[in-house]
Amino acid sequence: MQKVIIAIDGPAASGKSSTARLLAQRLGYVYLDTGAMYRACALQAQREGLSLEDVDAIATMMDSINLRMDFAQEQNRVFLDDEDVSQLIRSESISKMSSAISALTPVRLKMVELQRRIAHAGGFILDGRDIGSYVFPDARIKFFLTADVDARAQRRLLELQAKGIAASFEDVRADLLQRDKNDRNRTLAPLVQADDAILIDTTLLTLEGQVDLLYQHVQKILGGL
Ligand code: CDP
Ligand code: CDP
Repeated sequence: MQKVIIAIDGPAASGKSSTARLLAQRLGYVYLDTGAMYRACALQAQREGLSLEDVDAIATMMDSINLRMDFAQEQNRVFLDDEDVSQLIRSESISKMSSAISALTPVRLKMVELQRRIAHAGGFILDGRDIGSYVFPDARIKFFLTADVDARAQRRLLELQAKGIAASFEDVRADLLQRDKNDRNRTLAPLVQADDAILIDTTLLTLEGQVDLLYQHVQKILGGL
């Protein structure tokens, strides 16, 4: 079957990354986690002690950032200057910072260019906020995942608890709403459902059910059924 580009967009904790990873395995595609790229930019800025208000300093940082993605393992690995930062970028402070830094134009332009360079030939599933609307507006298949905010907060809370991180439902919910707001309201490439994206509400779906549903859509579109 022909290998195309598949875009999966949606708000935080709608299930994009876990779905994209499992769907890629099933289809023999490569999964590209674009959120991890913005997270790595945030970590670099944190390490350099930069204020996100100082856009000139961030632009200079982006000129020299050495960010590499590795797809050899099941989860994407992210490298900054040959250091594997895949775990470090998952902290709550980096989640908040990545939401803010991703709104800055020099950051987006550079990451979007890199995403296009990596995935242009097809055979990639990318998850993010702007993949179907901006990065690959011609992607053959586009999904937009949503879920009720309480369901999303509950999922994130369980993830944090599994990692042994204490957090309250209210704080997690407020953080998700704040990040959604940032993503929807930025000027360049905001979170928006592309006109031709398939909308899937995952509130009542299990992860397996969600992956099955997307797989069926892909098979139908690409003529595999
Ligand atoms: O998994 P989660 O939804 O918590 O976040 P993520 O997908 O790892 O992305 C981290 C942050 O990067 C998000 O809060 C977005 O603000 C930003 N992002 C973006 O702006 N555009 C993308 N294509 C992917 C992520
Ligand atoms: O990438 P995004 O932030 O959209 O979400 P995720 O990291 O894929 O999913 C957040 C959490 O919700 C993960 O622990 C998933 O296993 C879980 N999940 C779920 O419980 N039910 C679903 N239907 C989808 C995801």
